[in-house]
Amino acid sequence: MQIFVPGKILVSGEHSVVYGEPAIAVGLGMGIRVEARSNASKSSNPGNELIRKAFEVAKVSFDEVQVSIESQLPEGLGMGSSAAVAAAVIKALYAFKGNDLSQEKLFNLVMECERVAHGNPSGVDPAAVVYGGLIWFVKGRPIEFLKLNHQVDLLLIDTGKPKESTKEMVEYVGTREKKTIKNLGLITFKIRRALEQRSGLVDLINESGKLLEELGIASEKTIALSQELRILGAGVKVSGAGGRKDGSGILLVVSPDLDTIARFADKNKLTFWRTNIGSN
Ligand code: MEV
Repeated sequence: MQIFVPGKILVSGEHSVVYGEPAIAVGLGMGIRVEARSNASKSSNPGNELIRKAFEVAKVSFDEVQVSIESQLPEGLGMGSSAAVAAAVIKALYAFKGNDLSQEKLFNLVMECERVAHGNPSGVDPAAVVYGGLIWFVKGRPIEFLKLNHQVDLLLIDTGKPKESTKEMVEYVGTREKKTIKNLGLITFKIRRALEQRSGLVDLINESGKLLEELGIASEKTIALSQELRILGAGVKVSGAGGRKDGSGILLVVSPDLDTIARFADKNKLTFWRTNIGSN
């Protein structure tokens, strides 16, 4: 049986979510597919630490089961690839064994895997890939599904893979001004309202983007690109842990005229994806 787990992006709340502020995340159409089958060769200890951890938490031995993993998610860009790989492998191993697995249990097992890579994850990535859809997440609390009665189109622009790991970026933010974290939390509440009421989103995404720049999670080249996009009328923010030295991962872009933004991205040879919030 093939298992699919979606990737995610953060609409708001990266980093501030680590300090107890809310985050808004959305599951993507792109994700990870995993198939588990009987291990005929009896010799496939996966080299990858994350996959080894997924086998460990699922209490399955590599001698017994083999997994094949197909990923549509670029690694390290902030699209939840590590949480989605862990979730898909664990789900596939449970399905192979014929064991039941609740979403809550899967979330807890993915959290164990995330701790290997991240140190102190808030849990927003595991929650987003396990539950999918549009979620409101506060660390340690049950998630809330947000319902929109309209669709918000987004462009996701690849600014390049960050040189820093998520763990390093979270540690860096730990050294920064806590007032910015509080302000980011307030913006997340406003973004929720703007999504629900369908107004004011472009300005709020820019406010959030500029606070994240102030926090220091965007590189100079990402800030320059964001400014160019803002001149074209877009709302722009880094989505995910970000990166300071070179690439900062994904830029989330909203605009009443996304075609213009897409043409700009094309012309500048930027990789981008179109997605949306609020559709099924
Ligand atoms: C990473 O997708 C989100 C961060 O806030 C880290 C976390 O919440 O664990 C940067």
